[in-house]
Amino acid sequence: MKQGERKNFASKLGLILATAGSAVGLGNIWRFPVEAGEGGGGAFLLLYIICIVIIGVPLMTAEFLIGRAAHSNTSSAYRSLTTNPFFKHFGILTILIGWFIMCYYIVVSGWTLQYLLDSISGTFIHLDKTGNANAYADHFNALVSNPWKPIVCLVIFVLMSHYIISRGVEKGIERFSKIMMPLLFVILLILALCSLFTDGAREGLSFLFKPDFSKITFSTALQAMGQAFFSLSIGVGCLCTYASYFSSTTDLQSTALKVSLIDSLVAIIAGVIIFPAVFSAGMSPDAGASLVFVALPNVFHQAFGNIEWVSYLVSVMFYALLVLATLTSVISIHEVPTAWLTEDFHMSRKKASALVGVICIIIGSLCSLSMGAVKGLNVGDRNLFDFFDWTTSSVLLPLSGFFITLFVGWVLPKRIVNEQLPSYGRKTAIAVKLLINIIRYVAPPVILLIFLRGLKII
Ligand code: TRP
Repeated sequence: MKQGERKNFASKLGLILATAGSAVGLGNIWRFPVEAGEGGGGAFLLLYIICIVIIGVPLMTAEFLIGRAAHSNTSSAYRSLTTNPFFKHFGILTILIGWFIMCYYIVVSGWTLQYLLDSISGTFIHLDKTGNANAYADHFNALVSNPWKPIVCLVIFVLMSHYIISRGVEKGIERFSKIMMPLLFVILLILALCSLFTDGAREGLSFLFKPDFSKITFSTALQAMGQAFFSLSIGVGCLCTYASYFSSTTDLQSTALKVSLIDSLVAIIAGVIIFPAVFSAGMSPDAGASLVFVALPNVFHQAFGNIEWVSYLVSVMFYALLVLATLTSVISIHEVPTAWLTEDFHMSRKKASALVGVICIIIGSLCSLSMGAVKGLNVGDRNLFDFFDWTTSSVLLPLSGFFITLFVGWVLPKRIVNEQLPSYGRKTAIAVKLLINIIRYVAPPVILLIFLRGLKII
């Protein structure tokens, strides 16, 4: 594709909503409450916000800078910006990491779709009536270990993403984000309001907002940092690819700030929805990874159960919200290899997106089958799903973020940095200087620490 044919996002709002759509996903609504629940609520929230401000925003700006400077897909962005033999090929590595993430992310995305269908068909009301305390856990386990159901769901999810991606940047990603994101905010606010009227509201909110300083430990800080990374979509070329569709007048720092703010707000509101409901149902906030799929349907019924239609509506809205948020994130990961194949291998957008989708479906299906339907799909002592999850979020993402800070801080010519982050006045000049210094001196050692802790090396 020639440079002239490359489309940009058409409007400022569309650009921010699309990028926020990438950031807001399972990470905010599913992973954040789980992590906050285990990390002591308020204490975790405080550390998380600090991490977003001092590491998340600078790294997001750094990725934006690379994408906008090159105005191309992530692979050719690195190739065109440096002659350094390692960083020249680094772009391809980040694309492959993103592709890897998509392969298992779509498995969980498929579950969200199935849960939406379940809530619409009234399955949860039926489960509640059985009076069996393990009914929700059994339902979840039956789904993930079913040989075909999760695969059908993930295929549908990839088809939806493919449909949006193949329509292009402006008519596909931007237009859909402009519809889906506001809808998502409306559902979030309605659910948060409902949650505030539950019996556990006071307890839930004080768990989320009152930091217990004794809970602030080094390992909670590391957890919070990892969460900030995942939630902001840092490290796999998503932000870089989206920024290649920014116009030359887009203010990168303020865009990064706005997107991070939206992302954090959504995570906090998700906490406001979930913790009061958890406390109302007399459950423990540190129920772990099953919070959204096992505890939550149960919680909705216990919290709102005496009025059946309210609990029905709340669970339908919640899973619709989860599907929407997940879809906008899947699109952003899908777009990264699609842009690469389109531009570097001269494929049509449709073909490239289909190829990416088919490979994800094959690997994703194997990941799904490894959850119980087929024995032996393991790497070491982890099943394939856990292996993909662990290698990407604990190893590849921190490493990739680390190299991105080295690239922008130390390898990329200063001229390009100054071109991309113009300092119009004294105030912005200070902000730019601060950002560069964080990217050079603060972010690399902190990220390295996460990586080493993640691997339990230190
Ligand atoms: N940030 C998204 C979420 O919160 C997931 C996601 C999209 C992501 N793109 C990514 C995670 C790139 C890591 C890297 O669910």
